[in-house]
Amino acid sequence: MEQELATLTKTALSVRDLAVEFPVHGGMIRAVDGVSLDVMPGEALAVVGESGCGKTTLARAVLGLQAMAGGEISVGGQRVDGNLGGQAKRIGMVWQDPFASIQPKWTMRKILEEPLKLAGQSADVVQMMEQVGLSAALIDRYPHELSGGQRQRAAIARAIALKPPLVICDEPTAALDLSIQAQILNLLKDLKAETGCAFLYITHDLQTVRYLADRVAVMYMGEVVEIGETAAVFESPKHPYTRALLESSPHLQEIGQIPTAPLGEIPDPTEHIPGCKFASRCPLSEGKCIEIHPNYDGEVGQRALCHFPLN
Ligand SMILES: Nc1ncnc2c1ncn2[C@@H]1O[C@H](COP(=O)(O)OP(=O)(O)OP(=O)(O)O)[C@@H](O)[C@H]1O
Ligand SMILES: [Mg+2]
Repeated sequence: MEQELATLTKTALSVRDLAVEFPVHGGMIRAVDGVSLDVMPGEALAVVGESGCGKTTLARAVLGLQAMAGGEISVGGQRVDGNLGGQAKRIGMVWQDPFASIQPKWTMRKILEEPLKLAGQSADVVQMMEQVGLSAALIDRYPHELSGGQRQRAAIARAIALKPPLVICDEPTAALDLSIQAQILNLLKDLKAETGCAFLYITHDLQTVRYLADRVAVMYMGEVVEIGETAAVFESPKHPYTRALLESSPHLQEIGQIPTAPLGEIPDPTEHIPGCKFASRCPLSEGKCIEIHPNYDGEVGQRALCHFPLN
């Protein structure tokens, strides 16, 4: 117990058995279904998986923007207490759309100084701009006068302004041109080293995971089916789903976008699946997989939610 408490206070993010449900026509979707993960200070954990697997819902729950059906979350050692919205202030957030994180009617100066002012701190806006590679000449410009990449830099400057214990980036480069994507990734990598903040990096793009993330969590239908050190998971995936993702991703080509369905259709998310959720698409599934829900094959390090993990 003591040891568990000590780990909790040291982690930037700790998620235990998180569940989020949405009532939908025809039933209930368990969009996040028993997710547990930790991110340590200074570490980047990538969350990858096909569209609809629950990545953004996980992020919204961590931000306290999403009611939880079960589980516990703490950020910087403090429990997210279900007071919706209260947590968001303590976390830096970068969304896919660079406009989503910034006020279109404010100048860069106002956009960048606002989070610090709200926290009662003085802001060196020029220094904030320099830190994210924005020219100080843009200080009195409005967001629509900037490029998408410049707006995303501004959003990142805001996200790290208060040196939060945790920064969440949800597909931060997906809306940007390819050449700009690389620049933003470089910036995030530099800032991770400079600030010591922990990063939860949500993406479809497996190539960028390799570049940016120390560890990676692979989600499938609301569950983390595999988690481990990035290099280990890429070189030797334990879950057949991870292997399928890696094999189907054109990782020898330029962009590592995950195709929508590497192994046929994903089951209806409202359907109750008693066994492994991947069994219907898994080339290795046996009777047990369809009948019994698997447990992780280990407690620490690289682990997979599979009855027959790969070697
Ligand atoms: N507000 C909502 N009401 C009902 N269902 C929802 C809601 N938000 C998300 N969902 C469902 O929850 C599941 C997870 O959605 P989520 O947006 O978290 O996926 P994602 O992994 O972020 O996908 P993407 O890669 O497309 O962004 C999906 O089945 C989605 O349709
Ligand atoms: Mg999403």
